[in-house]
Amino acid sequence: MNLDFSQIVPYIPFMLKGIGVTLGFVSVSILFGFVLGTGFALLKISKVKGLVWFADAYTSIFRGTPLILQLMIIYFAVPQLTGYDMPPFLAAVLAFGLNSSAYVSEIIRAGIQAVEKGQTEAAQALGIPYRPMMKDLILPQALKNILPALMNEFITLTKESAIVSTISYLDLMRRAQVVGADIYRNFEPLLFVGLIYYFLVMGLSLLGKAMERRLRFGD
Ligand code: ARG
Repeated sequence: MNLDFSQIVPYIPFMLKGIGVTLGFVSVSILFGFVLGTGFALLKISKVKGLVWFADAYTSIFRGTPLILQLMIIYFAVPQLTGYDMPPFLAAVLAFGLNSSAYVSEIIRAGIQAVEKGQTEAAQALGIPYRPMMKDLILPQALKNILPALMNEFITLTKESAIVSTISYLDLMRRAQVVGADIYRNFEPLLFVGLIYYFLVMGLSLLGKAMERRLRFGD
């Protein structure tokens, strides 16, 4: 067996920096995807045919093609058309946010439609207009039900984030590759960042469970 973990010791701070890089753009992407996804969900439940069609087509395209392809188009192909060289951070946030919004819009749409119909009927009977009804009554209930699914999406994005290493963005994954190329050993750095990803995902899932428990406490 050819293993020597002492060789990665000098590189540990370099690899640890990847945690911030990865979590940084994943958090921004999640927020962006959530806001956009909520918008698309509202379009989907609207009764305007054109809007529903647009949101459905959007979802279909972004869920029907590989995320890595979307990332490559945004990072490599769009600059060819626009002449604007995008920084990797922006390309990553756009690709992950746009992609995630397609998944989130479906989660939220299902969550809204799962809120009991009587709630809407009661609000309408009381003469509450659409906006406050959605904002203060339907969406908060929907959010509570879909929290586990949203947390799952966060976890998926955290793991999928490793593909930004293909646009040479110095995330956790890319850092492991850089170290591997530097010391001619790949197992040690890959195992190291593998453990970090695992702890991040475990942390997120614990956070999700804690939030769920708190929300259930409100019942
Ligand atoms: N590997 C899948 C793809 O390339 C993941 C898509 C992202 N998934 C998500 N829930 N946002 O299409």
